[in-house]
Amino acid sequence: MPRNDKDKNRKTGSNGCSCYKYDLFRDAVSVVLSKELKDDFDGSLIEVPPDHTFGDYAYPCFSLAKVFKKSPEQISEEIAVRLEKSLVGNKVIARAQNRGPYLNFFVEPSYLSKTIISAAIKKSRPELQKPGKKPEQKQIIEFSSPNTNKPLHLGHLRNICLGESVSRLSESIGNNVIRTCLVNDRGTHICKSMLMYKKEGKGMEPDKKPDHFVGDFYVKYNELEKKDKGIEPEAQEMLRLWEAGDRETLTLWKKMKRWAVEGFNETYDELGIRFDKFYYESEIYKKGKDIVKTGLRKGVFKEEKGAIVADLSKEKLPNKVLVRSDGTSIYMTQDIYLAKLKFKDYGADSSVYVVGSEQNLHFQQLFAILKLLGFSYAERCYHLSYGMVYLPSGKMKSREGVVVDADDIISQMKDIALKEIRKRYRIRKAEAERRAAKIGLSALKFYLLMTDPGKDMTFNPEESISFEGETGPYVQYTYARASSILRKYNKKIDKNIDYTTYGDDELVLIKKMGAYHNTLVDAACSYKPSIVCRYLLDLCQIFNEYYHKTPVLKAEEAQMKARLLIVMGVRNILASGLKKLGIDVLPVM
Ligand code: ARG
Repeated sequence: MPRNDKDKNRKTGSNGCSCYKYDLFRDAVSVVLSKELKDDFDGSLIEVPPDHTFGDYAYPCFSLAKVFKKSPEQISEEIAVRLEKSLVGNKVIARAQNRGPYLNFFVEPSYLSKTIISAAIKKSRPELQKPGKKPEQKQIIEFSSPNTNKPLHLGHLRNICLGESVSRLSESIGNNVIRTCLVNDRGTHICKSMLMYKKEGKGMEPDKKPDHFVGDFYVKYNELEKKDKGIEPEAQEMLRLWEAGDRETLTLWKKMKRWAVEGFNETYDELGIRFDKFYYESEIYKKGKDIVKTGLRKGVFKEEKGAIVADLSKEKLPNKVLVRSDGTSIYMTQDIYLAKLKFKDYGADSSVYVVGSEQNLHFQQLFAILKLLGFSYAERCYHLSYGMVYLPSGKMKSREGVVVDADDIISQMKDIALKEIRKRYRIRKAEAERRAAKIGLSALKFYLLMTDPGKDMTFNPEESISFEGETGPYVQYTYARASSILRKYNKKIDKNIDYTTYGDDELVLIKKMGAYHNTLVDAACSYKPSIVCRYLLDLCQIFNEYYHKTPVLKAEEAQMKARLLIVMGVRNILASGLKKLGIDVLPVM
């Protein structure tokens, strides 16, 4: 294979994640052309024509004009004539045709269908795969990372959905993923809910979901602080006692932390996620100072008015204090330590942080500091930054407790889904609730993932659940429709079919199915589950249009069998694609 061509196919993620896009038909075009053009062939020029009737692939001949001293039109015509002979017997490329300065290639339709369909009807991995084992990389993905003073909110939901989806996508391209979560369980804000519990909790046990119970005291604290400024020093004093290892304070801390974490775990269960490793700030917040001090000794950092500072002007970033003049460390100090610890704990190849865009500068500085320290994996750290989530009514707030609570949203989604289901079907309550749970979560997850991670977004619960719009339930619905066709057939599906029966409409749909693998590669390497969302919506649309005008079960035998395999393939791809978004399918809606 010519080198150029390979490089074009290679996708390298910013953190060193590396995998190949795979397009075996395009590769076949490369083989044909490189025999013809030798060193003058440039694989990166192969493109997909704007109109599929022109051909499946095209090669522009402009750059050959200089070499052959002829017009591009003449060149493409001449090569087309020569290819007519050399393509005889080629089982992948049926023919080539010149069209102005372009040379167009047509893949043999039955070969194309057979290749794509045979992959798609495999339930577990319906994507076209390159034979041979993929190079496995170990990737650490940190997400959620909540604070133990209050429950998870809407922003966390976006974070968690992204974290889980990029993890699954990374796994789908052959990586081994370690899901981590950094629990912020220390600091003044944690002491605030502890202080309020001490004042008003009176040893009470939680009478509601335990993280909500803890969060209520945090809200109460903030209400009180508005009236009584004298309370802030009390929280500071509590932090001092905590750091000094005061027994009573530690006992209270442990108790409330356990409640918070228990509550988070319930929400994680509800969302279908689990972590491989929790890191706790209480265990690492003092660490990192040694690394910074060594850095100072080696002249990597400088001293300024007693503080240790990283000069980041070379990176065009503001300088960063790493240890304050009173010797205390900060958020950045522990992150320097943690960044290294993660690699050490797992022998990982790369490390991803799913954290909101308000911390963009923090991570730019962190990675720059790691580089200054000569940490060889600095370039393999990646901040997956995501934007704010608003509700139609306006911005979500956090301090005052007007937070949009994650659990509330989840249960609200289930309620809306339940209403939708009851409007449509008459089924038993328990069954309706079971379906509502899956549909509600699907609506939520798909909607949060559909927007490009970098962009701010507005979450609209009603819109997210529409069975007809660009939503998770719409994709689930299409899956259920495909499943119902297969159920109605109610016989074992014959996989030995005649691949020459497919017409133009079918080939368009089949080619879309064939694009699934590279969609996964694109999405995984760019950390954009939104690419999968878009693909699934497009596939659904093409499939629904096709199904609308093409009889499947009423077609004559050979056609029916061939069409059933399309239905089966689409169904598998929809299930697989939704799974990558953390969404479960339902055989019936
Ligand atoms: N707990 C932090 C917050 O709520 C996020 C932590 C992000 N992770 C990290 N390694 N700094 O803002």
